[in-house]
Amino acid sequence: MYLSREEERVLNGECGAASQTCMRILVRLGDLFGAEKLIPIDSAHVSGVSYKTLGDAPIEFLRAFATQGARAKVPTTLNPQSLDQQYLRRRLPARLVEKQLDILDQYGRMGFERCLTCTPYHLRTPRRGAHLAWAESSAVVYANSVLGAWTNREGGPSALAASVVGKTPDYGMHRRENRQPNVLVEVGKPLENEVEYGALGAYLGKSLGDRIPAIQGIDGAEEDWLKQLGAALATTGMANMFCKTGSRKDRQLEKIAVEAADISGTVESLSSGANAKPDLVFIGCPHCSMSEIERVAGLVKGRKVKPDTEFWVCTSQCVKQKAGPCVEQIEASGGHVLEGVCTVVSWIEVLGIRTMVTNSVKTAYYAPTLCKAEATLAPLRDCVDAALQG
Ligand code: F3S
Repeated sequence: MYLSREEERVLNGECGAASQTCMRILVRLGDLFGAEKLIPIDSAHVSGVSYKTLGDAPIEFLRAFATQGARAKVPTTLNPQSLDQQYLRRRLPARLVEKQLDILDQYGRMGFERCLTCTPYHLRTPRRGAHLAWAESSAVVYANSVLGAWTNREGGPSALAASVVGKTPDYGMHRRENRQPNVLVEVGKPLENEVEYGALGAYLGKSLGDRIPAIQGIDGAEEDWLKQLGAALATTGMANMFCKTGSRKDRQLEKIAVEAADISGTVESLSSGANAKPDLVFIGCPHCSMSEIERVAGLVKGRKVKPDTEFWVCTSQCVKQKAGPCVEQIEASGGHVLEGVCTVVSWIEVLGIRTMVTNSVKTAYYAPTLCKAEATLAPLRDCVDAALQG
């Protein structure tokens, strides 16, 4: 890979050990994927923040890295952690809380923003055509497909390296020729809610691998529903993008038909806890947008959460701050608006949660393995009804 004189200096260690390590990671990656050069990025988004998913080993690496002078060169956001600063911090064992705070401290020393979220685009929307180095798969698909920004699906270390160097190797989704759809998807029924959009994503992810689908009939979909589609697509497969519309050129592509039974079958297969009384009702995977919080607040108005049910609405700090009155409404009903966390990366099993209802296909997919919980899928309105009395 070609390196400029300045990049050579970084690789040779003239700009410090941390930058040198980061440059080595990027050069290795670029060589592996046949990149010809590094390109500047507008922002980075780093995963590997929750102590539950990270574990102990990387903490010392992060500490050493921060001590060596690793600092973000571009605006860099972080994925959710394993607790929020109020509700779960009080309820989880002190040992887990301490470890989590230690991880956040190390990232803080590197100058990463503390808006812990899988929807960094709610904090700052990337411009169309911007090159990014994002590591959260649901955000990657959303950025490429809905926002028109360009990012590969980074791992935690490569996103961190890109943040410190301010660049990423020019391959994959950064190349126009790799952003063309290669299969046309015809959906045999109008999709009616976010769960069905998520189910379509999960079904396609399984059948397409890393191919980019052009999906007919989703032009008018709400962005929150496309968010569910993309999150599920990235959960079951390796595609980093979908296209909304089948153009004339797309009609020449190989066709895949998705029938109503494929959608309902996917929902059923992911509803492992069907009919069980939920210990938890969870909305906010990926993190809730402003409009989702407003919808929940409208539905809970004047009602109360069942005494033996937890009701969590997860979002980012920036959305929670903007949604003040809606947050008050949800919390007055007995629900919890939790910032910077989600069920999958927290320890819901420690809290005794065994069954949940959610509108997120991604959460339903991971619940049995990562949370030891059974999930039932239902659209947002039904989720709220499952949480409330009367
Ligand atoms: Fe975000 Fe957690 Fe879902 S990180 S995409 S809410 S699994």
